Amino acid sequence: MKVLVTGGAGYIGSHTCIELLKSGYEIVIMDNYSNSSPDVISVIEKLSGKAFPVYECDMLDYDGFGKIFKENKIDAVIHFAGLKAVGESVSKPLEYYNNNLTGTIKLLRLMKHRNVKKLVFSSSATVYGMNNTAPFREDMPLSTTNPYGTTKLMIETILKDLCFAEKDWKVALLRYFNPIGAHPSGLIGENPNGIPNNLMPYIMKVAVGKLPCLSIYGDDYPTPDGTGVRDYIHVCDLAAGHIKALEKLDRIQGAEAYNLGTGKGSSVLEVVHAFEKASGKKVNYKIAPRRPGDIAECYADVSKAKTELGWEAKYSLDDMCRDNWNFIKNQK
Ligand code: NAD
Ligand code: UD1
Repeated sequence: MKVLVTGGAGYIGSHTCIELLKSGYEIVIMDNYSNSSPDVISVIEKLSGKAFPVYECDMLDYDGFGKIFKENKIDAVIHFAGLKAVGESVSKPLEYYNNNLTGTIKLLRLMKHRNVKKLVFSSSATVYGMNNTAPFREDMPLSTTNPYGTTKLMIETILKDLCFAEKDWKVALLRYFNPIGAHPSGLIGENPNGIPNNLMPYIMKVAVGKLPCLSIYGDDYPTPDGTGVRDYIHVCDLAAGHIKALEKLDRIQGAEAYNLGTGKGSSVLEVVHAFEKASGKKVNYKIAPRRPGDIAECYADVSKAKTELGWEAKYSLDDMCRDNWNFIKNQK
């Protein structure tokens, strides 16, 4: 089975490509490298021991995208490509809607044209909005608080409408919780440029001395230690979840949503202490005001993915911190 991986050079895409190749799938990667580097391709080849076609291409380039389908007999698509920075999406909404929505519609039109109707889509726990109480279940009402989240919810809606109109589509909507961790080899992981927005990349920059101090956004939440609680999931567990989803696509009717999380929440302070333990480094922090748009607790009900996909996360928070440290300590 040949799988087109859009955004395959990115953080989650690259880990999933390794897992796909290990599981015997053939892959084709397309990426415009807007948030990744072509260098990751040789690492995927090295870690998997396999070669595969790679296209530097933008999803918005319909003809370029079409060439990939013409030159390869694609059976299914895993669609990671998209812009993902929440704050940036607030200041550049048109860029986000154009890239994520228009790009996805172009992909779907090409898939339809080529009669490729199996898709695994990268959605996000952000679609649960601010009005639900954790643990989040797939059947809860959905809403969003920023353009990035809205692109995810709109794409989910487009895919549901498409599956309603055309019954031969098989779509898995994977709602990721908070992906962290890195490949155990230490050769790939996430290391954003500049000042990170997300917790783990920020902690890592403090631990290696590139930033002086972590600001913890609020210690007065109704949580055990007052800091925000999230469901951190190892990127390799996420990658394995994509293989399970792909295996089960034939049995899916229409578009089905699945939470990919551990089902266990960890507070900001717990993550800081786990990282200190894994790295042996002190992570300086101070308590700062709450960040607008944050909720107290966000963690998954994982029973649907367990029952229907036969998938559950294996890695602990300590494992995630160990692999993050193993990766970051080798970076310049
Ligand atoms: P990433 O930025 O590392 O990977 C996305 C890849 O898509 C990048 O390599 C980028 O260059 C590529 N890309 C973006 N726009 C493109 C375009 N127009 N044409 C071709 N390639 C394009 O992000 P990630 O963390 O690996 O996330 C993958 C997907 O999962 C994204 O859709 C993201 O929204 C979603 N997601 C991520 C998280 C997270 O915390 N990392 C959480 C929930 C959902
Ligand atoms: C954020 C996005 C969400 C996206 C997810 C994964 C927001 C409001 N939400 O989720 O849409 O799907 O990333 O990419 O941006 N924290 C600190 N100090 C920091 C950074 C974070 O205390 O410097 C805290 C936050 O308040 C939160 C926790 O750490 O309690 C996790 O934050 P983060 O990693 O940004 O993820 P989310 O906010 O869960």
